[in-house]
Amino acid sequence: MGEKNLNFDEVINRRHTNCLKYDFAVRRGKPEGILPLWVADMDFRISSYIQEALIKQAEHGVYGYSEVQDEYFQVLKSWMARNFDWRVERRWLIKTPGIVFALAMAVKAFTQKGDGILIQQPVYYPFSEVVEDNERRIVDNTLILDENGAYHIDFEDFEKKIVEEGVKLFFLCNPQNPTGRVFTKEELMRMGDICLKHQVLVVSDEIHADFVWKGRHQVFANLKEEYKKISVTCTSPSKTFNIAGLQLSNIFIPDTAIRRKFRKQIAAAGYSQLNAAGLVAGEAAYLYGGEWLTAVRRYIKDNIRFTRHYIEQYLPEIRMTEPEGTYLVWLDFRNLQLTDEELEDLIIHKAGLWLDSGAIFGKSGQGFQRINVACPRQTLTKALDQLRRAMRENKNNTRK
Ligand SMILES: Cc1ncc(COP(=O)(O)O)c(C=O)c1O
Repeated sequence: MGEKNLNFDEVINRRHTNCLKYDFAVRRGKPEGILPLWVADMDFRISSYIQEALIKQAEHGVYGYSEVQDEYFQVLKSWMARNFDWRVERRWLIKTPGIVFALAMAVKAFTQKGDGILIQQPVYYPFSEVVEDNERRIVDNTLILDENGAYHIDFEDFEKKIVEEGVKLFFLCNPQNPTGRVFTKEELMRMGDICLKHQVLVVSDEIHADFVWKGRHQVFANLKEEYKKISVTCTSPSKTFNIAGLQLSNIFIPDTAIRRKFRKQIAAAGYSQLNAAGLVAGEAAYLYGGEWLTAVRRYIKDNIRFTRHYIEQYLPEIRMTEPEGTYLVWLDFRNLQLTDEELEDLIIHKAGLWLDSGAIFGKSGQGFQRINVACPRQTLTKALDQLRRAMRENKNNTRK
């Protein structure tokens, strides 16, 4: 049989499918027809194995309550062992309908109103939203950007903020969205040891773990035995296999007391059984999705390379942060010296692009834009051409 869905060059029309990326521009204040490269899903068709498993389920015709059985855990366990050298146990696993939901549950389970929660901006914006929506405080250990455009952790500030703000919960994002950083073992352990010392719980969002371009993704909880006692690891097949709409995440919590608290919070939120389609898709993905994933990774890597060359050649005013992981590319527009409004106008109205504006990732994201390159080369080229044209016109207008 073999994998059938490997033509990533095919431009699939996603309009009129209730698609967040393509069908909501006007409702979200953007012009009709804008080219979207914002939200982090892919414009590619999923693995044919997943598609066929879903067709089979659809044909069965009964969609009652569903729950995972041992097969699901076994394929998941084997995926974690093969890809990350991480041996997970069945009792550690809690399924949630998404990682953001899990983050919100962690906030509620492990902190009180008014408590400080540590994040490292610029970072995936729901991190700050779940903190503020639950009336907790953001404590930001801002990532440092060096003169070569690379991001680093300010460890001194990390510990100082934990102590001074009485932080008990840290949201780690690794691989990091939007900067594309993949933290090294040394960096993770330096943070981990500080968290151990001050009894800070680490909720490690590793949703992008299957997209690492340099070296290997390190599961935080797997780096030291003691980290198992202070960690909640958030994983999901959603980004990896482009099934975010099916809402399935695998949260691993080795420590019994932490797991109980988390589980209790989920029960209090009224959530129990999984989405039946998510379960079928997730199992097929972990079992048979490997060939598709290898191919999609290659395609995305080429897209990243293409973007880098395009920017070097045609858009030298923009600085691209080289992603070590993720299919998100973080672009620095600060050389243009535009105000936030002018930059938005350039991207949205002049270039006709819907990207994620850097400012939503925190103050340190101002002047940046995040572009999702998990799309056919043709779409990416069109987007970069639109940007190039808009920037040329912008330059001509400022000269006049
Ligand atoms: C770091 C990170 N965490 C979580 C999510 C979303 O997770 P979910 O859809 O499972 O809530 C994303 C999606 O872009 C992400 O980049």
